[in-house]
Amino acid sequence: METGTAGVESSPGSGVRPPGGASWWREGVLYQIYPRSFADSDGDGIGDLGGIVDRLEYLEWLGIDAVWLNPITPSPNVDWGYDVSDYTGVHPDLGTLADVDRLVSEAARRGIRVLLDLVPNHTSDRHPWFREREDFYVWADEVPNNWRSIFGGGSAWALDADRGRYYLHNFAPEQPDLDWWNPDVRREFEGILRFWLDRGVAGFRIDVAHALIKDRELRDDPVTGDGLRNVYSMNRPETHEILRSWRALCDAYEPSRVLVGEAFVTDVPDWARFYGSGDDELNLAFNFALVHAPFDADSLRSVVSATEAALPDDARSCWVGSNHDIGRMTTRWCGGDEALARCALLLLLTLRGTPCLYFGDEIALADGHVPPERVRDVTEPSRDPCRTPMPWTPSGGWTDPWLPLADTTRNIEDERSDPESTLTFTRDLIALRRVLPDLQAGAYRELEAPRDAWAWERGSGVVVVVNLGREPCDIDGVDGSIALATSRTREGDRASGRLRLAPAEGAVVRRG
Ligand code: NOJ
Repeated sequence: METGTAGVESSPGSGVRPPGGASWWREGVLYQIYPRSFADSDGDGIGDLGGIVDRLEYLEWLGIDAVWLNPITPSPNVDWGYDVSDYTGVHPDLGTLADVDRLVSEAARRGIRVLLDLVPNHTSDRHPWFREREDFYVWADEVPNNWRSIFGGGSAWALDADRGRYYLHNFAPEQPDLDWWNPDVRREFEGILRFWLDRGVAGFRIDVAHALIKDRELRDDPVTGDGLRNVYSMNRPETHEILRSWRALCDAYEPSRVLVGEAFVTDVPDWARFYGSGDDELNLAFNFALVHAPFDADSLRSVVSATEAALPDDARSCWVGSNHDIGRMTTRWCGGDEALARCALLLLLTLRGTPCLYFGDEIALADGHVPPERVRDVTEPSRDPCRTPMPWTPSGGWTDPWLPLADTTRNIEDERSDPESTLTFTRDLIALRRVLPDLQAGAYRELEAPRDAWAWERGSGVVVVVNLGREPCDIDGVDGSIALATSRTREGDRASGRLRLAPAEGAVVRRG
């Protein structure tokens, strides 16, 4: 058994702290940090590890259980960290290995675990392997098939002028795909996992977890009406073997470590396969079917019921509404409407599963404005609007940040002191999850509700209702008292058989 600080359970001076135990990730709340944009400790305009340490007090106050950091490893930053040039180092903009150790131990003192981003599908073309270990990558003498790059949409094959051969890049040309059929690649990555886990890291978010293995014969992807079906360039069944081996590796640690996968699969039964038998592959996978569903009650509840039907017993979905690729849910789902954004938070935090908030979700942060001359992203359209800095104070709290911070109307300082704010709402909701075991572990069952509303019970003791429509509506069969509502003045109200909801309103009701 291998050990580390990843299992530290409680912190001095805190209130109700994360549930302990090896399965903290089932009941807990994850929080995604885009390090360059979260908090800057040295005033150079780039967020860093020291900045995260400085904000641990805030994260503890918010009540989250673990942070996932987007890549912190050295990178030429063609794709902002997702082009890794050294898997066991730290990008100098962000700090040092000593800062990682400090973050892990300071976070553990506050009951917070640290998950890192693992990028196993591809490296940077500046990684020494690309020059020294040709056999680590996928090559062909001629362009062998119709595979297309996700970035830019052109061929996924690029000519390496020195070698006169083509290499595969499912993303940017500067991100050559690794050849996961090569056992040496597997061995290298086992070492990389252990390197970080031995430092006390609680686990990994796995980038592009569905794509590691490519078809051995490099067959053409089938052409569909509007593009290609990625059944040979990605989504190969053999990828599951790799995930199973990593799960075994993580389970051998004490406490066991956690794998959260970016398995970008929107077909729910296919996505559920990433959980294996329930406890031998990913611990959690982001639910992209929900992410990409329109924000209406019908669409969302049908994803949730498909998810419930597809998951192995006891497995649970990881619910997200925002991340550094897809945009912020306040903009994407809610058109900027703060009341609707509270409904989104309500459902992410009360469905059966593990929520993962993206930094800023807790204040209903909307996408930022990035003028064309400030764009840093490699993709078109750029993902920069959801990567702008965290507004800590009414003036931002940043000096000349790497991406513009234009709107600080919603900021942490103001919202922290305001009992009516969305931040207070989010914090109270996270706290409520801790005190109502049904919200953590109770079974999900959909209840009758008018078309634009959605109602479900968690276990026997809790009912959650939300109205995503433009008209008031009545939910029948609700008895109990409102423990928490998006309109805070309703808390403590009783419902006897019927609960009326205003448009964009939701509530958690305790039965009895
Ligand atoms: C998914 C990551 O979330 C995204 O930011 C990145 O560009 C691609 N994978 C390629 O690594």
